[in-house]
Amino acid sequence: MQPPPPPSTTTDALVIPRIGGGFHLAPITLAPLQADEVRVEMYASGICHTDLSVEHGYLPVGGFPIVVGHEGSGVVKATGSAVTHVAPGDRVLLSFTSCGGCPSCLAHHTAYCETFHLVNFGSQRADRSPRAHDADGERVEMGFFGQSSLARDAVVLGPSCVPVQGLTEEEMRLLAPLGCGLMTGAGTVDNIFRARAPGSIAIFGIGGVGFGAIFASKTLGLSPIIAVDIDPRRLALAQSLGATHVVNSTHCADPAAEVRALAGGYGVSYSVETTANATVKMQAIRCVAKLGKVGIVGTTGDDRVDVDVEWLIKSGASIMGVAMGDAYTPEYIPKLVGEYRAGRFPLDKLVRFFRPEEMAEAVRQMLEGETVKPVIVWR
Ligand SMILES: NC(=O)c1ccc[n+]([C@@H]2O[C@H](COP(=O)([O-])OP(=O)(O)OC[C@H]3O[C@@H](n4cnc5c(N)ncnc54)[C@H](O)[C@@H]3O)[C@@H](O)[C@H]2O)c1
Ligand SMILES: [Zn+2]
Ligand SMILES: [Zn+2]
Repeated sequence: MQPPPPPSTTTDALVIPRIGGGFHLAPITLAPLQADEVRVEMYASGICHTDLSVEHGYLPVGGFPIVVGHEGSGVVKATGSAVTHVAPGDRVLLSFTSCGGCPSCLAHHTAYCETFHLVNFGSQRADRSPRAHDADGERVEMGFFGQSSLARDAVVLGPSCVPVQGLTEEEMRLLAPLGCGLMTGAGTVDNIFRARAPGSIAIFGIGGVGFGAIFASKTLGLSPIIAVDIDPRRLALAQSLGATHVVNSTHCADPAAEVRALAGGYGVSYSVETTANATVKMQAIRCVAKLGKVGIVGTTGDDRVDVDVEWLIKSGASIMGVAMGDAYTPEYIPKLVGEYRAGRFPLDKLVRFFRPEEMAEAVRQMLEGETVKPVIVWR
């Protein structure tokens, strides 16, 4: 018999008070758990561009003040009555949540859940009661991507919890970012393209998503692996971690033509776009070979591109929308942990750790390209 969950927990979190209001470390109190919820004490939380999009107001959410963060790792402290796949004491890596009952969920394509946007961005309890409140008793939104992991302790949705065994505390901190950007990049190659060698790939934008795609491409033996970015530090790191060629698009009149040339003149088998910029999306589309596959990942930027359908017909290309790399997290996250253990997913080359008080500096380093994956450490 499990002990009943404690009535409430006071902790601290990086709260965004309003759009453009920054991240503030402040005390919050968590409400008692409902049936489908889990209380998780965080080891760490990676920062993804999508967290910053919420702070900028580019992504609609349930309301403000809000706690975001969706690349968490932690230990389960208590579970609601309907949660059976994890128990207090279990170590968990956190990812997105899903409804579990729609056709996509039943087919294990949970990233295409019918309620994906509602449950991950606008997450609220059915009875509208708050999951947390601040020191003044004001409601604080919690449940972003089912987790709101930019908190020392959080009320997490059951499906967001992926139990992992045998990881040290240090590995729990390092692997926290697996649940979003890196998984999305790797899953684009593995699950969306179902890529196979021989084949070639170009990756536009080398952040967390781009590196995930590079690691998976290298593991599959794709060649060439062409990294395109505007930041020379990112390109140098990409070359040291698996890219066979790099293109700095600030010094290149036509990056798509350059990619085609590097791939023997016919274009690449696969391309991935992660910048959310319409010009770059067109470069990713124009650089593929006949029957090539294009994965569109970058969000909350330009939302229209002008594709010539005659070209599309003649090329046989597929332009594919990517949500979370179509990862079925109970299986794909443990697979990526195995890849890390085998030395094929070197997160340690991308991560820099920060204390919660250093959030502003972590964001600055991410935006200026200095750090690929800042991780806030809670314990
Ligand atoms: N669809 C999904 O499921 C999903 C999942 C995770 C992230 N995302 C989105 O993917 C995008 C990338 O996320 P990230 O965390 O890797 O971001 P990031 O900021 O770490 O990386 C973006 C990279 O793009 C580069 N870049 C910017 N402009 C460029 C240009 N004109 N040409 C070439 N490179 C350029 C930057 O220098 C940077 O290296 C974001 O839009 C994020 O919201 C989508
Ligand atoms: Zn669903
Ligand atoms: Zn993300």
